[in-house]
Amino acid sequence: MMLPKPRGAFSSEVFEALRSDPARLIASGLPEAESPDDRAITLWALYELHFRGFEDVPEDLEWHPAALQLRSDLESDLEARLRSRWVAGAPEGDFAEAFFAFVADHDGPSLARFVQTEATEEQVLDLLRMRSIYHLKEADPSAWAVPRLDTAPKAGLVELLYDEYGAGDPNRLHHHLFARGLEEIGLRSEYGAYVDDVPAEVLEQNNAMALFGLHRRLRGAAMGHLAAFEATSSMPSRRMVAGLERLGLDATMIGYYSEHVTADAAHEQVAVRAICGALLDREPALWDDVFFGAFTCMDLEDRVADHLLGRWQEPA
Ligand SMILES: [Fe+2]
Ligand SMILES: [Fe+2]
Repeated sequence: MMLPKPRGAFSSEVFEALRSDPARLIASGLPEAESPDDRAITLWALYELHFRGFEDVPEDLEWHPAALQLRSDLESDLEARLRSRWVAGAPEGDFAEAFFAFVADHDGPSLARFVQTEATEEQVLDLLRMRSIYHLKEADPSAWAVPRLDTAPKAGLVELLYDEYGAGDPNRLHHHLFARGLEEIGLRSEYGAYVDDVPAEVLEQNNAMALFGLHRRLRGAAMGHLAAFEATSSMPSRRMVAGLERLGLDATMIGYYSEHVTADAAHEQVAVRAICGALLDREPALWDDVFFGAFTCMDLEDRVADHLLGRWQEPA
């Protein structure tokens, strides 16, 4: 993958510096970000140095001090904005009970319901392009938490990841299943192929997962995010299957979603009880951050849904 298109003067300068002169990454020498898009694409690209990188950026820039400082500045801004949206606070009580109620009580717009009942084929393809930014690296940001967890939550997380990564069979690996589904449906399956097409909301959804995954101090938020993701996946995946079938779309992509109907019904139990519950048994101080991560997962999905539903309902 090459660096994405810049979305303003800030990302333009940063991307140029990443290509040719990292010394220019010093924040004081860079223009202000012009927009949420300009900021989000820059942080997304800086995070990508830790995933699979870019063909036009030297690999050793992953740990360049100026790139890390710039990433840190952008992360502080992102984390502050995410925390400022979380006003309700964490519930109390038995953890698993409180967590499932917290997720069930969340009331947001549902892209999957729209796909099930009324989306056109073009709208579904639009959604799959948006989803490709995460689904082509599905589970990767959660994997960063493995060495940061103690025995029981670590065992739970690895059990869940073993499934996400295909249980030893590359053909069952979830991000590979999604890539095959994209190809069969006539979309591009290369990693990051659609990053220039996605709105800031999608970039931010991905940036939040990288933020939580890369910082040990945010391990509670990372696992809370994962648990909310799994606990809000099975039923929407069933709706996606129904919508894709309604439109007569290719069976491979339907297979990706039907895999998640059953897998995530099990994963939500593992993530809530064996990962987050076990984590909080050992580190009860992480209680608030587990719920912060869960809230952020659902809140960012709402923002993506609002954006897409709004765009699809605009008069042509
Ligand atoms: Fe998955
Ligand atoms: Fe899952």
